[in-house]
Amino acid sequence: MQMKAALSRGPRSSFSLETVELDHPRPDEVVVRIVATGLCHTDLFAKSTLPAAMGPAVFGHEGAGVVEEVGALVEDISPGDHVVLSYRHCGACRQCRGGHPAYCERAQQLNSSGRRPDGSTTITQNGGEVRAAFFGQSSFAEYVVATADNVVVVDKSVDLTLAAPFGCGFQTGAGAVLNVLAPDADSTVVIFGAGSVGFAALLAARASGVATLCAVDTVPARRALAEDFGAVALDPATQDVVAEIRDLTGGGATHTLDTTGIPAVIGQAVSVLRERGTAVVVGLGAPDVTVNIQDLMRKGKTLRGCIEGDSSVRSFIPRLLALHADGKFPVDQLVTRYPFTDIDRAVADQTSGSVVKPVLVW
Ligand SMILES: NC(=O)c1ccc[n+]([C@@H]2O[C@H](COP(=O)([O-])OP(=O)(O)OC[C@H]3O[C@@H](n4cnc5c(N)ncnc54)[C@H](O)[C@@H]3O)[C@@H](O)[C@H]2O)c1
Ligand SMILES: [Zn+2]
Ligand SMILES: [Zn+2]
Repeated sequence: MQMKAALSRGPRSSFSLETVELDHPRPDEVVVRIVATGLCHTDLFAKSTLPAAMGPAVFGHEGAGVVEEVGALVEDISPGDHVVLSYRHCGACRQCRGGHPAYCERAQQLNSSGRRPDGSTTITQNGGEVRAAFFGQSSFAEYVVATADNVVVVDKSVDLTLAAPFGCGFQTGAGAVLNVLAPDADSTVVIFGAGSVGFAALLAARASGVATLCAVDTVPARRALAEDFGAVALDPATQDVVAEIRDLTGGGATHTLDTTGIPAVIGQAVSVLRERGTAVVVGLGAPDVTVNIQDLMRKGKTLRGCIEGDSSVRSFIPRLLALHADGKFPVDQLVTRYPFTDIDRAVADQTSGSVVKPVLVW
């Protein structure tokens, strides 16, 4: 089928809305008409690291839409279903069987190889291959071929232009808190980096009843929004963040989350922990960080990473949508909608920090 897609033609070129061809679905696949797709930093990171010589690619991994067609082996998804798309997992490896599909042993192949596992591409242009199947979707497009394992059916009352980022950014922040850090009312939670992931984490911590919440961010508008959400907001440019947090928490935080991927900030997220505290890192940034192992050891601290909020998408995304419906996960204020033709403006606004979560709408 012919459709429009926003093609990436190299790290420095802007997105290009072009006509491409979508392949027919295989027996385990689902064709979804995309209503909206969130823009995640991971799309831009992937674009920035894909050399132009690798040919065109379609990114986008926070798609939401309506099912058009299902393959013969797909049992629990039907045409007309409203769906949120998330990441792929194999369902058979040790991690998938153990309830941690975010760490699927085939995650790289299934989500970022640019192809189906059999080597074919889901998108072509004039007979030439286009790298696609990004997170089993490549949803910067009017239609996608997804696979049953990354399709989450949602109630038809759900606003798909709000639900799209639940497939990655919102589930990543909320899952890091609800599935990994698991704070309680007595906990003290500090979020470094109040972007879409950080705010989702902050709101999830608030929904968990955490009374002492703190957000650190360089952007004044984001600190103001964090305060509106009930957090103490700190400016790393003008404040001694570590001293302020120790003061605020009576000696150190029980839980911290870094979404910046900046080594020095990760160092702060670990150093402000109190005894037996846990720091989780989710940001894509510099790969190496220096950590004071003596401090980690003496205080029994934990530093760990987390992908996609360690969530099982078919249970966690409906759980988050229910929290939202109850008014306990008010992400509405984080989302700004753009027509798909304005994808470059959406990228610029996200990069400048003026918009927290751009959502592209067809
Ligand atoms: N692990 C995963 O599964 C996963 C999933 C989604 C996104 N990500 C990654 O998570 C990261 C966050 O995503 P996002 O959409 O929230 O991005 P974002 O850019 O909106 O948020 C990052 C925030 O950090 C702030 N910041 C910058 N320097 C800082 C400093 N020195 N101290 C404190 N804050 C500072 C920025 O102002 C910004 O608000 C990205 O790297 C993204 O690629 C990871
Ligand atoms: Zn697996
Ligand atoms: Zn993402």
